[in-house]
Amino acid sequence: MEQATELSLRPSNLSQYIGQEKVKSEMAIYIKAAKQRDESLDHVLLYGPPGLGKTTMAFVIANELGVTLKSTSGPAIDKAGDLVALLSELKPGDVLFIDEIHRLAKTVEEILYSAMEDFYVDIMVGEGSAAHAVHVPLSPFTLIGATTRAGQLSAPLRDRFGIVEHMQYYSEDELQQIIERSSRVLETGINIEAAHELARRSRGTPRVANRLLKRIRDFAEVNGETSISLLTTKHALAKLEVDDEGLDQIDRKILKIMINCYHGGPVGIKTLAANIGEDVETISEVYEPYLLQKGFISRTPRGRVANAKAYVQLGISLDTR
Ligand SMILES: Nc1ncnc2c1ncn2[C@@H]1O[C@H](COP(=O)(O)OP(=O)(O)OP(=O)(O)O)[C@@H](O)[C@H]1O
Ligand SMILES: [Mg+2]
Repeated sequence: MEQATELSLRPSNLSQYIGQEKVKSEMAIYIKAAKQRDESLDHVLLYGPPGLGKTTMAFVIANELGVTLKSTSGPAIDKAGDLVALLSELKPGDVLFIDEIHRLAKTVEEILYSAMEDFYVDIMVGEGSAAHAVHVPLSPFTLIGATTRAGQLSAPLRDRFGIVEHMQYYSEDELQQIIERSSRVLETGINIEAAHELARRSRGTPRVANRLLKRIRDFAEVNGETSISLLTTKHALAKLEVDDEGLDQIDRKILKIMINCYHGGPVGIKTLAANIGEDVETISEVYEPYLLQKGFISRTPRGRVANAKAYVQLGISLDTR
């Protein structure tokens, strides 16, 4: 069952969680201190590109605290009343996890201010002249917010998080360990060279590594391999159109358009998105951060430019610039 495997692919405590060493060591201290004081952990904001393990980390934190986690997401909460209902169900020390917290409606977000700061909400009941505010005390709780775009959070909300952690892309070594762990969970063997090759080509992202691993396993099984080989890994990645730097079709399309249609840039993100047929958010949250970090493109005040590395990767002569 896909869902069950997904759950087991997720580490459940800090010691099983591979990588994000800075986040882990800081969280270990804050969790220990909160437990020693017998207080709820301060509110935590986790931000960074998709698929780096923010949701996983939220569950790990709740598990380490030994409390219950209730999970929701910004766009899923329509009305302030829905959030109040969630908040009032929390027991002392519990975690409320809000994914995509930058997408909360303003009226819902405002409820969080007093809830986070002083553990109460004021709600209006009744209508017309009978309308009055009711003060609802809450149990001390921990809000864990996750977002791919910390810049889109309002200042009042951002300031109420005592702990702010930035999730980074994973190193090849860390990804290799994640791939080896996942292959044990999936009960397929994988050669060290194959795991290393996949790690190198997974865009620094565990979600990508796990997704590719499942597909490569299909190729290996059909080939009758008991342990995934390097050859099959290379063959499968070629079929999946993942190149030797881990760039996929869309990455390459972005670079191609920048080079062929805009002489390597500068080109604005909206123009790029329109040309590619993806939305601006996807380009700026998923694709751009990796291309930037790998040095294929740079950001300038007038837009994105393709670097020499991009020309080399696509096999396009630099003279065409
Ligand atoms: N440190 C890790 N060790 C092992 N597996 C991990 C790790 N981090 C993430 N994963 C795996 O990667 C996948 C994606 O993780 P997760 O859903 O937590 O990412 P996310 O940052 O919440 O993504 P999104 O922003 O899209 O919500 C999961 O399948 C999880 O099992
Ligand atoms: Mg998530």
